Amino acid sequence: MTIRVLFDPEVTVGAIDRRVFGSFVEHMGRSVYEGIYEPDSPQADEDGLRRDVIDLVRELGVTIVRYPGGNFLSGYDWTDGVGPRAAREPRLDLAWHSLETNQFGTDEFLAWCTKAGVEPMLAVNLGSGTLGSAVELLEYCNVQAPSRFARQRAANGHAEPYGVRTWCLGNEMDGPWQIGHQSADEYGRKAVEVANAMRLVDPGIELVACGSSGRYMPTFGAWEDRVLEHTYDQVDYISLHQYYDPYEGGSHDPQSPRHGDTASFLASGAHLESFITEVVATTDAVKARKRSAKTINLSLDEWNVWSMSRFHAQPARSTWDVAPRLIEDTYTVADAVVVGDLLISILRHADRVQMACQAQLVNVIAPIRAEVGAPAWRQTIFHPFALTARHAQATALVTTVIGPGLTTAAHGEVAQVSAVATHDPNSGAVAVFLVNRSPDADAEVELHPRGGPAGPGVQRTGPGGEPAITHTAVFDDDLMAVNQQSAPDRVVPRAVPVLANQDGVVQLRLPRASWNVVRIG
Ligand code: AHR
Repeated sequence: MTIRVLFDPEVTVGAIDRRVFGSFVEHMGRSVYEGIYEPDSPQADEDGLRRDVIDLVRELGVTIVRYPGGNFLSGYDWTDGVGPRAAREPRLDLAWHSLETNQFGTDEFLAWCTKAGVEPMLAVNLGSGTLGSAVELLEYCNVQAPSRFARQRAANGHAEPYGVRTWCLGNEMDGPWQIGHQSADEYGRKAVEVANAMRLVDPGIELVACGSSGRYMPTFGAWEDRVLEHTYDQVDYISLHQYYDPYEGGSHDPQSPRHGDTASFLASGAHLESFITEVVATTDAVKARKRSAKTINLSLDEWNVWSMSRFHAQPARSTWDVAPRLIEDTYTVADAVVVGDLLISILRHADRVQMACQAQLVNVIAPIRAEVGAPAWRQTIFHPFALTARHAQATALVTTVIGPGLTTAAHGEVAQVSAVATHDPNSGAVAVFLVNRSPDADAEVELHPRGGPAGPGVQRTGPGGEPAITHTAVFDDDLMAVNQQSAPDRVVPRAVPVLANQDGVVQLRLPRASWNVVRIG
């Protein structure tokens, strides 16, 4: 049966906030050390920052990067990481049972952001940290005055304030694993006071309150409701985090890779879409209760594929090591398809999801991998992210998929094909992102743009006056294929022939378990 995908360049979900192509750098494992900072590397620049990684970050199209954590944040004293390096002392990182050298801190991160061409998203510690430490960090970063912390910044080589716009109020404070874990009321009270004080320092900032660490959390829903009851007027965003585990859900043989439930895993995008819808509903219920004119939007500031069950199955660490190898997942073709589908879910809700950070950026569950002294490489999941960031321009369109569903053990009935179209009114170009979630069957698809491909305004350069159409996909006969240091380009996007482009309808075949982008005009 042919699946039809309908969209109209004039019927939009909303403008795409470029910050949905965000990422995350945490002091965890080899994300910072050996990832973005490796002073002895042949790849290092004068600041010890890896040039090869910066180049890949630019290619990936990342727009905003959250820092410094994550669970690390809730035990971090930012003052340990500023000032002359020789005077900085190592500290215990309790979250990841590691030794933090503090050779990389706020100033180094902000310098890296400038070089990588990304906006910083900083987080204040609301676990072991206080209201005082939060406002002092903000003063250090954003204030131009002869005051103590602003002067410290100047003495550390940065006379001008950094002007960091976006700030997270803690990390996953609903999680019992979090250092300084709080109840929703405790956190809500603390967050509102910190928010008020931070706005006194800099009224121009945007603040993100902690929402749920995952849809599976027993407190999900009630947590958002209580936190927003306290903070609604003082914050701009509520966060949500969600990871998808390829090994969860009916694994027959834990020794054998990916004997889990592939069909459910490939349908993870449907789960994320439900999660987003539920957080929007909960947020808007508070809005209604408060009779507020203000809308709180969503910051999906940790999302990715992560074999979390394997990580938790490992024995606890006993030694305090610097930058130990932690959760350096090697990603497969199936993982790349899911990552691409999660981005489709985000874009389908572009009106409310205004920031999203793939977690993380380098080495630790990351699209970029780097080894000491050797060039960095792209994991499979790099490709759908980079192509979406490049081709999803301007506005997301209401996109309707009419076709058969798939039944999955974990998510029930889901659409076999997920899709979102985007449209740039300036160029007229349309990009349609599609995933065939079936692990077994190719999908015959027709794109039906109103007004023909791609609707009004598109450049028509084909021989019959039709617009140029390209179809690019990530797929493979072997869903477990990976990119590794020895074979970094085993999995790359491939051109796929367009079956037909007639009478305003584009016909395509989507390979089984594939992520696709079709560019029109
Ligand atoms: O990204 C890894 C960890 O996952 C983060 O530190 C934490 O916020 C989440 O639980």
